[in-house]
Parts: sequence; C-alpha cells; structure tokens
Amino acid sequence: MRVGVDYYPEHWDKSLWAADADLMKQTGVKLVRMAEFAWCRLEPRDGVFDFSWLDEAVALFADRGIDVVLCTPVSCPPLWLYEKHPDIVHVEKDGTPTRLGIRSHRCVTNPVFLQYADRITIEMAKHYAGNAAVVGWQINNELEAYFCYCGHCIDKYRTWLQEKYGSLENLNRAYGNVVWSGEYSSWAQVTPPFGTLPHAWQNPAYMLDYYRFCSDNVIDFSNRQAAQLRQYCPGRPVTTNVWFCEHMPDFYKQFDGLDFISYDNYPATRLPSDPESCYSHAFHLDMMRGVKRQPFWIMEQLSGGKGCWAPMEKPPLPGMIRGYALQAFAHGADTVVHFRWRTANIGAEMHWHGLLDHSNVPGRRFREFADMCIEANALEKLQGTEIKADVAILFAFDNEYAFRIQPQTDGYYYMEQLQRLHRAFMGLGLNVDIIGQHEKLDGYRIVCAPEMYVTDAGVVERLNEFAMKGGTVILTTRSGVKDRNNNALMTLLPGPYQEMAGVHAVEYAPIGWEAVSVLFGDGTELQAKQWCDVLETDTAEVLASYNGDYYCGAPAITRNACGQGQVYYIGTVGTQPVYDRVAGMAAEKAALPVIAGLPPRVEIVTRTGREASAKFIFNNDDQPKSFVMDGQEISLAPFEMKVVLI
Ligand code: GAL
Repeated sequence: MRVGVDYYPEHWDKSLWAADADLMKQTGVKLVRMAEFAWCRLEPRDGVFDFSWLDEAVALFADRGIDVVLCTPVSCPPLWLYEKHPDIVHVEKDGTPTRLGIRSHRCVTNPVFLQYADRITIEMAKHYAGNAAVVGWQINNELEAYFCYCGHCIDKYRTWLQEKYGSLENLNRAYGNVVWSGEYSSWAQVTPPFGTLPHAWQNPAYMLDYYRFCSDNVIDFSNRQAAQLRQYCPGRPVTTNVWFCEHMPDFYKQFDGLDFISYDNYPATRLPSDPESCYSHAFHLDMMRGVKRQPFWIMEQLSGGKGCWAPMEKPPLPGMIRGYALQAFAHGADTVVHFRWRTANIGAEMHWHGLLDHSNVPGRRFREFADMCIEANALEKLQGTEIKADVAILFAFDNEYAFRIQPQTDGYYYMEQLQRLHRAFMGLGLNVDIIGQHEKLDGYRIVCAPEMYVTDAGVVERLNEFAMKGGTVILTTRSGVKDRNNNALMTLLPGPYQEMAGVHAVEYAPIGWEAVSVLFGDGTELQAKQWCDVLETDTAEVLASYNGDYYCGAPAITRNACGQGQVYYIGTVGTQPVYDRVAGMAAEKAALPVIAGLPPRVEIVTRTGREASAKFIFNNDDQPKSFVMDGQEISLAPFEMKVVLI
C-alpha cells in the first residue's frame, strides 16, 4: 500500500525542491506524480524541448528512492500553439470557439492538435524510456467526453454514424426521425446538438448516440496516447485519472485500452446532517475497483479544504485525511496519491489546499498524513489480498447517459438507487462489487440490477440465467423501458424482465417530490418517493404495497421464484430503510454471512489472502461508534479505521 503526492516543480523556486524531496522521504512518501499541465515549460517554443528541469526533479526523487509517474501534458497546450493554430481550440455549443484563459481548451479531434500532442508525448516517452525512476504514465488529466462543436468533431461524428448505420434510411428509422419532420435527407444535415435548449428537447435516440460518440472519441485519444507511450517507453503501465463528472467517458471501454484505473477522490469534508444522504465515497471506490476488476490507484486524494472556483470549504476534520486514505486502501486501491504536496501560492487553484499550507509550515493535516504514511507502509503484508464479494451491483453508461438526457421526474437520478443498494448491503458488513453490466456474474450470490433502462438483450438473458441457476436478482423500477436506440419498447413494464420478475406494471406514477408510504407484510410502514409502478403480480409474491394515493393497496415490492433463484422487484424509489429491508431479506434468504447491528456509517471491508486476511473497519462519521462483532466490543473514534487481522 503505497502513498504518493502530486507535485508541481514548475510552480516552485528550485531552492525548495530538495527540501521537499527530503521531507517526502522522511514522511514515507513513495511516489510523486508530475508534469500534467507543464507543456509550456517542456516545449517552450515550437519544436524546442526542454526536459532538463524535469530531469533534475526526477533525479532528486530517484536519489531518495521515490518513484515518479509522469503525465502527458496535453490538457494545456502552450499559448504559442494556440497563436499559431487558433483552430485547435474547442468549440462551444453556440458555435463560438472557447476563449482561452483557463485550461483544457483544445479539441482532441483536431488533426493539428493531435500532431503536436503526438510529438510532445513521443519526445517525453523517448526521453524517459531509459529512466528507471519513471514507473508509469498518466495520460492528460481528467479526460472528459466533452461535447465539441468544431468542424473536425462534426465530420468525425458523421463518419461514426455512417459506420454504425450504413445509410441515412437506417439512421432515420433507428432514431424515429419522422417525428417533427426530422428526417435527414443528406449527411450534411447531421450536426451535434447545437444551442442552449435543454437536451430533453432533442430526440433521445440521437442524443444517446451523441453521448456514445463523444465517449468513443475521447477514448480514441487515450488509446492513441497509450500506443505512443507503450511504443517509445515500453514496460511502464499507462493510466488516466477519472472522476464522476457530467461528461464521463464509458470507463469500461476506456480502460480496456489502459493498464490500470486511477481515480481522483475528493470525499465530503462537511458531513450532511440528513441521515438519508449517501455521502460515503465507498460507492465510488467499489466502482473504480470494478472497472477492471483489479486494484486501482487514487491519483488525487483529498488533502485540505476545497475551494477556488467556489468559496472555500471547511478543511478535512481531524481523522479524515487518515481515514479517507485508508478507506481507499480498504476498497482496493494499492496506491493513494495526495493532491497536492503544498497548496499553490500562485494561480487559480491557490485556495484548493494541499497537505502543506501556503506557509510551508507542517500543520495538523500534514502530521495526520505522516501518521497515515507509516500505517499504510505497514500494511505491506496485505498487498495482493483480494476483496471477494457475494454481492454485485450492475452499472451501465448507456443508462447514465439516457437518464441525463431525459430526467424521469423531479429529484430522480440514476446513481441514487445504486448508491442506496450499495449502502444497504455494506450496512450488513458485506463486500460489494460494482461492475459493468456486461461482466460475468459467476461467483456472485446476489446481483442488483437497478434501473436497467436501456435494454441489452444479452444482459437480460444473463440475469435470467443467473436467477434460474439459484442466484438472487434485485431489479428496480425503470427497467426494460427502452431499446438499444433509446426508443420506448412497446411492452408492459418491466419489459423483457416481466417473466423473471413475475410482475407487470399496469401504470406508473412519477410523483417527483411527493412521498408515498409502502406497507410491508409485517405492518412496517416505510417511505418512498419519486416513482410508483402500479403493479399486478403474475407469479410473484407481494412483499409491500402502496399505502396511499389512488393506487393504495397495489403491490410496490415483490419477490418471484425464478428457477432455483429469486427475483425481487422494487417498483418505487425508496428511502434508505426500504433498500435496507430488501437487502436484509435477500441476504438472509441467500444465507450470506452478515454482520448484524452495525451502527450507521460504519463500513467494513474484508480482504482475504493466502498469507494474511483483514477486516478494515471504518467509522465514516464525526461521532464515535461502538458495537459488538464476533463477541468483541469494537469502539471507533470519528473517522477511525481499524485494521483487524483475521
Ligand atoms: C481535480 C483536477 C486537479 C485539480 C483538482 C483541484 O479535479 O484533476 O487538476 O484541479 O481537481 O481543483
């Protein structure tokens, strides 16, 4: 378990570098990431490269036994390049070029930009190929599947559609373009969604393809960079750092072409008072582990108070620096790199705090970081231990995109039910995987398939097979609604899942901010919101019914025997206790080894290995907790992580 820091030698006077490297070594830092925005210093003039300053920095770290990850600096082209080739700039939805001044203004489709990006990448790769201190590469920084409206992107989008559909006739049919006289009669009429109208006004079939195209387009760029790095600097693993943003590329496709996943992890510093809130980053971490189903890195980890484009926030509370880093290790990170070593004294991000403050005087956060480094380094014995999960949750980028395109009802968003199910199963002390919908389901006992909105026939078949063979599937509302093109299926819901769920909806009520209660068989009444499928059972048993509104008495949550397995259907969006209850029932029926009575916000991950196994027990709360596990009293201070060898 390795700890690193993000470091920007180009931001600091050289006189500070050696002292920084010494302090890192003394603290137990094993890795630094550098150079992701440093193009103007690496190629100060067209074709003139200067790696000398970076060589010096790399050598300082190498001398102290600290490894280096370098980044391709292609997110921030130097101004001379924009001046020479103004058209490499990203174009906004109103057709105007983005104005320079911030960062990431370039369009990754533009052939001139690509030539320059190739050149700096190849030069760097060649230069560091023989340098053993450089142990890996990060492509760009937080590559997003931005919408760009430049001519090159439009041409590429048309080509992408031509390859997919072959003819305009097929395309018109797939999109249902007859609506509002939208049929294309020439390829020149096909454009990205220009203008500022909400995307829900656009044709949803067209919009879903456009999201897919933007994702494929940025993946082309990361694959291109990866190929160059591998050719000219062989033997070094390549990644890019991702985050949960508005324009996420399809991580499953993107990381097919890369060696490992890395994620920028900025958990909450202010805990929400609402006990319903799913603020824990455990969900994000489990999702990152699931992308390649292997250990991952945190490339940027919370180190201080956030701020810069927004007003400054409270700094991490005592315990958070240590607790959140160890939480990442618990969920499968093998390297956690803190953003950043020292808070910048210059530039737009001077209020996004690092481990050290502007003063460069080590303070509370730094001391906590130093303690954490000692602990993380002592966890070496758990390197290679696995997180084996009985429970999986399926994720699909098609659904993420489709729900963004067409909001379902007020307050509804895709991640919510996934996060609630995740929290419910974690609350039982179980490991949970979050995996792509196309992954194999072998080895799981319970698979949650929430909001399977855009239907993939192969996935339906696999889930059915999984249940038939004895697995438990948990389905939710908004499943089986759309076909692959994002057009509505002509079927009762949940569409192709009806038979396995043994239930169908005769109507649905999107209730937005309204609430409705659901009554379980034992008289327990819990709250639900946003959506109500009015169900009729075919073969399923009713677990809970609506207790209000015009559909009072209709089934809301059901369970069906499907072959040797079970299929639950949750026809509404519950508050957390609804998912806790369903998860509890499903885990009990599947005889999973739950830990009863875990206090809220206590998270347990079990890592198993041949040599050693451990339970990571984390109190993700600002209040102390205590409970009994295996007959032993466990007490946890706020944000304390206990690693108990088993
Ligand atoms: C990240 C980004 C960093 C820095 C940080 C803090 O999302 O990758 O470059 O901007 O946020 O603002």
